[in-house]
Amino acid sequence: MENTILEPREKEERLPRLNSELWKYCDQPGQLIPLLQAAQETYGYISESAIKHISAVSGVPESEIYGVITFYKQFRLRPLGKYLIRLCDGTACHVNNAKMLKAVVEDELGLSGSDTTEDGLFTLAPVACLGCCSLAPVVMINDMTYGRLTPQKLRTILRKYKKEGQAADSVQSEEAE
Ligand code: FES
Repeated sequence: MENTILEPREKEERLPRLNSELWKYCDQPGQLIPLLQAAQETYGYISESAIKHISAVSGVPESEIYGVITFYKQFRLRPLGKYLIRLCDGTACHVNNAKMLKAVVEDELGLSGSDTTEDGLFTLAPVACLGCCSLAPVVMINDMTYGRLTPQKLRTILRKYKKEGQAADSVQSEEAE
């Protein structure tokens, strides 16, 4: 899964690529899933404008498109957070208290009923196995792997990312003023 937050200019640059994908599929039966996958690969999620665009190109009503997106777990209606937390719940991690780590992430980041925090900093994605079972329980945050975690260690790590993410956001908003 691509973890990307695109700047507006980058999004524009990717539009022709999305369009070529759209036209490739638009006359085929069962076109909707590949169209949605193309949109998600292009933008990292399926935006409202992508849905309108797909509806116009394919002739499938927007309500039907929303129905398909919400039915399939692979599709996202919101961008991924700046920090993607892959929390392993494979067998080795599961027996080493992965459930407790999930509770820590949800509590520390205030996630309830959504996989992404309101400020767009974090997305939580449970995964089956990260391939380093000897380090169980394991969590990956973007490209960094953290193993042999305890709830307290994980809290400290999350707080560090939170601080870093909030500091970067405030620098960006100062620059925008
Ligand atoms: S089960 Fe968690 S890394 Fe393999």
